[in-house]
Amino acid sequence: MNTIDNLNDKIKEFLSLFDGDTSAAQLALSSYQQQLENSDRAIRARQTRPIEDEVICLRGVSKRYELGKQPIEALRNVTLSISKGEFVAITGASGSGKSTLLQIIGCLDKPTSGRVEVESKETTNLSDNALSELRQETIGFIFQSFYLQPFLRLSDNLAVPAMFTDKKKQEIDISVTELLKRVGLSERSRHFPRELSGGQIQRAAIARALVNKPRIILADEPTGNLDSGNSKSVIELFRKIRDTLGTTIVVVTHDGSIARQADRIIELKDGTIV
Ligand SMILES: Nc1ncnc2c1ncn2[C@@H]1O[C@H](COP(=O)(O)OP(=O)(O)OP(=O)(O)O)[C@@H](O)[C@H]1O
Ligand SMILES: [Mg+2]
Repeated sequence: MNTIDNLNDKIKEFLSLFDGDTSAAQLALSSYQQQLENSDRAIRARQTRPIEDEVICLRGVSKRYELGKQPIEALRNVTLSISKGEFVAITGASGSGKSTLLQIIGCLDKPTSGRVEVESKETTNLSDNALSELRQETIGFIFQSFYLQPFLRLSDNLAVPAMFTDKKKQEIDISVTELLKRVGLSERSRHFPRELSGGQIQRAAIARALVNKPRIILADEPTGNLDSGNSKSVIELFRKIRDTLGTTIVVVTHDGSIARQADRIIELKDGTIV
């Protein structure tokens, strides 16, 4: 069968869906076309986001660890830009430099060379005090291990990061109650971490990272020890936070199915972006 015949058959098949009603078919086609154009536009908008939306910018970042005689090049000449409200996944094999990259973005570590800007502020030559202020005001961290305090009830665990700010106790209590509700743990506020499941602890750690209303969330393997159902709900929670608060989210994961749910995947191999 030639291509024209093939096409005619397709058109007949399509029209039969509308019982030969060509105007209904026409309407369906133009609505489909509109949807395609809209999604095209959304993709283009994302690609051409204006530069003032850039919240994280790395230029030629390298990190070398000197261990005895054998230096380790954990990052080599990494350049990247992340926009406000983007949900980015960083993937790569074990040892490829994911955690190192996240720590440098989060100003917990300094690069050996290169520039790092967070909200247009060059961070590599800030003093330790200025850095901890920037971290406290801007960034929420979720680490590979969660370090919930075992002897504190859940609500007190969530309040800890806010205690180092000048917020009043009443204000902190309101934020904690709101956050517990947001992550579906309102009923658990008086419980200790040992009384919670792995997934609940993970959600609590996310809530704790949000208590100071950070504009950037950095999470290292936040679904590390979770089954696929709990991993999915953690990722959904990130998306919801991003959609409602416009938070920029950077998640390190070696799980491809988690990474694919992000807006963009940055893959590292031997310390470079591939
Ligand atoms: N403090 C350190 N001192 C020396 N070498 C380090 C240090 N931290 C990391 N490295 C090395 O740097 C490289 C990158 O480590 P990194 O922790 O960033 O990898 P990763 O991609 O997060 O791995 P994983 O998936 O196993 O967590 C590794 O070779 C690691 O051994
Ligand atoms: Mg790591």
